[in-house]
Amino acid sequence: TERVECEDSKQRLLVVANRLPVSATRIGEESWSLEISAGGLVSALLGVKQFEAKWIGWAGVNVPDEPGQRALTKALADKRCIPVFLDEEIVHQYYNGYCNNILWPLFHYLGLPQEDRLATTRSFQSQFTAYMKANEMFAKVVNEHYEEGDVVWCHDYHLMYLPKCLKEYNSNMKVGWFLHTPFPSSEIHRTLPSRTELLKSVLAADLVGFHTYDYARHFVSACTRILGLEGTPEGVEDQGRITRIAAFPIGIDSDRFIRALEIPDVQIHIKEFKERFAGRKVMLGVDRLDMIKGIPQKILAFEKFLEESPEWRDKVVLLQIAVPTRTDVPEYQKLTSQVHEIVGRINGRFGTLTTYPIHHLDRSLDFHALCALYAITDVALVTSLRDGMNLVSYEFVACQDSKKGVLILSEFAGAAQSLGAGALLVNPWNITEVARSIGEALEMPAEEREKRHRHNFEHVTMHTAQVWAETFVSELNETIVEAQLRIRH
Ligand code: G6P
Repeated sequence: TERVECEDSKQRLLVVANRLPVSATRIGEESWSLEISAGGLVSALLGVKQFEAKWIGWAGVNVPDEPGQRALTKALADKRCIPVFLDEEIVHQYYNGYCNNILWPLFHYLGLPQEDRLATTRSFQSQFTAYMKANEMFAKVVNEHYEEGDVVWCHDYHLMYLPKCLKEYNSNMKVGWFLHTPFPSSEIHRTLPSRTELLKSVLAADLVGFHTYDYARHFVSACTRILGLEGTPEGVEDQGRITRIAAFPIGIDSDRFIRALEIPDVQIHIKEFKERFAGRKVMLGVDRLDMIKGIPQKILAFEKFLEESPEWRDKVVLLQIAVPTRTDVPEYQKLTSQVHEIVGRINGRFGTLTTYPIHHLDRSLDFHALCALYAITDVALVTSLRDGMNLVSYEFVACQDSKKGVLILSEFAGAAQSLGAGALLVNPWNITEVARSIGEALEMPAEEREKRHRHNFEHVTMHTAQVWAETFVSELNETIVEAQLRIRH
């Protein structure tokens, strides 16, 4: 009976991320409404059938009172989620401050705060203290729910201090950590005052994963140069203990997008959009409204294209969906006004009484409208200045099997490593080059579009999010076994 039980029971996977995959809204003193947010990580793990996944994270709301916390914990339990409650001050210092004003820009090569950003940065040390405290709070909740044999998978730059805290609770815990952003050149990481603490903590994990080989290489260099440790082909060695470091490029749940195109509601949207933009080629950008996405640069490149190609002015439209994000961070507020100003100027310059070249929306679209937009687009513009991977490029490709549109893709997005052969790669800082690529994409012959699309479509449908998650977790299981074997020998 023991064997049968073993086969039946799935291994438990504790997924720890700053944000839970549901957003919670309070509708009464002790009642909550929950909405699943189907981001990349969520759909990746929904597709992984051999583990029983539980989520641990922040629900994105401040719940100061106990009855509220109790009710939310109960509601979340049905969705296999466990909340970590962070008070407003911690959120301000840890999430707005250390995560989003320090680590995020640094990892995307925007450097540490200077000038304006420095003036709005409260003491670096107190933000780092709040960061460590928040990570300790996550660790405490993980430890309360941990059972022997579980795998703990920590995610992203918010939780770099977590592997160390977890191993202090229990050195036998299987801990993996994955970074969803780039890991920058070791010369950039070196500028961070808490560079040593963060590297050491991440190395406490058993397996450390990145989207690309380059990010993994940068991390190993940081460990050798800053910590003086030895980099081996398997990872980083510290006094006989090896932390395995490797690249695991994420993907999407491509079937979900492909199937969505058959849904009647999506078909209705497709028909509407086609009528709305009849006679014009559609160019599309979908980004969180973030500095790293290069939205102003993209729009300026579009302006340059219109300037130099008067024959296209009434034949093309750029739809830019800019999803608001981290709106409490001053840098993001400034970016919003900057983008609005540029869009207004260009529409004033090239618009007519009946049309204007840029449709800019400051909001997200529902899934059906988004799929329909992807499907009718002629050219997608993914021109991030830096991006860990960028899954918008993958989603676009998944929805383009009948249209075979062109993807213009930044060489500084992780996705350039996988979709580079099918896309038109650009340096997003070079506005002249991006403007030229827009012309090339709009005029590309069908045969070449087909060839490029085929390449990307095969990649996106084979290297799915499910494959990513399964590969990481099974490697984590194996890594532990290997480490134990080494000790026994
Ligand atoms: C990036 C990060 C994620 C983060 C997401 C949305 O993709 O890698 O960890 O959750 O942006 O940002 P937010 O700050 O709203 O969670």
